[in-house]
Amino acid sequence: MEWDEGGIHQGLIAKLRNSNHITVLTGAGISAESGVPTFRQAQSGLWAQYDPQQLATPQAFRRNPRLVWEWYSWRRELVNKAKPNPGHIALATMEQQVSRFTLITQNVDDLHRRAGSQNIIALHGDILKTRCIDCRTYTEDALQNENIPPRCFHCGGLLRPDVVWFGESLPTEALEAAFTAARECDLFLSIGTSTLVEPAASLPFIALQNDIPVVEINPEETPLSGSATYQLKGAAGKVLPELVRSVWQV
Ligand code: OAD
Repeated sequence: MEWDEGGIHQGLIAKLRNSNHITVLTGAGISAESGVPTFRQAQSGLWAQYDPQQLATPQAFRRNPRLVWEWYSWRRELVNKAKPNPGHIALATMEQQVSRFTLITQNVDDLHRRAGSQNIIALHGDILKTRCIDCRTYTEDALQNENIPPRCFHCGGLLRPDVVWFGESLPTEALEAAFTAARECDLFLSIGTSTLVEPAASLPFIALQNDIPVVEINPEETPLSGSATYQLKGAAGKVLPELVRSVWQV
């Protein structure tokens, strides 16, 4: 079912309206329209020569902590300057319309929270938080520290962003809650994610295995596209507000 062919399918409108529990998975694509670059699209400027998959690893941090810290400082600055876009805001509006709503995000920015979403599972952590690699203490004012990367005030260890890197495990509780929400919802939306990085990539397939309809919103094809019940091909910031308006007239 394509977005471009005759607007939103009436069956989807009815399913959304009758859902008691909607689960949503978001990826970097939903924040792209806020100016936060995605991971697998060409980067521009200073960091264009670096592959995020080579920087977002514990090995990269051990090898060159300064480089990794500076890449995250650049991303943190982009996040701080960014504002939630109509896609984030439409999801916060959707949450107010249904009795149960679970928003699982792979994004480490805080744009969903700033848009007003409440029930958020942050699978890959939070770029605005910093913790020590040795004693794991969280530090609020790390960014005022003049070392790069800054050092832990308690034990002198290196501080790192509180995000999940390639090769690291996801927070167990968050992961369990995400799998439960994928199994127990009435409708699952997969928005702005390449569906390539596990375990998040399995979530829409878990929903499908449980006979739960899955909607994909993405301008590009992904490994999920062929299996999705509804495919809305377009930018989240355009498709989501229109979807919410069509279903709930808000
Ligand atoms: P990717 O960069 O892999 O994929 C972004 C997806 O968003 C692509 O499929 C794009 O087609 C789509 N997209 C781009 N603009 C869009 C728009 N305006 N509206 C809707 N979709 C749009 O990002 P993720 O799938 O989030 O993990 O990547 C998953 C994980 O891999 C990330 O969380 C990160 C990364 O490495 C960790 O850091 C652990």
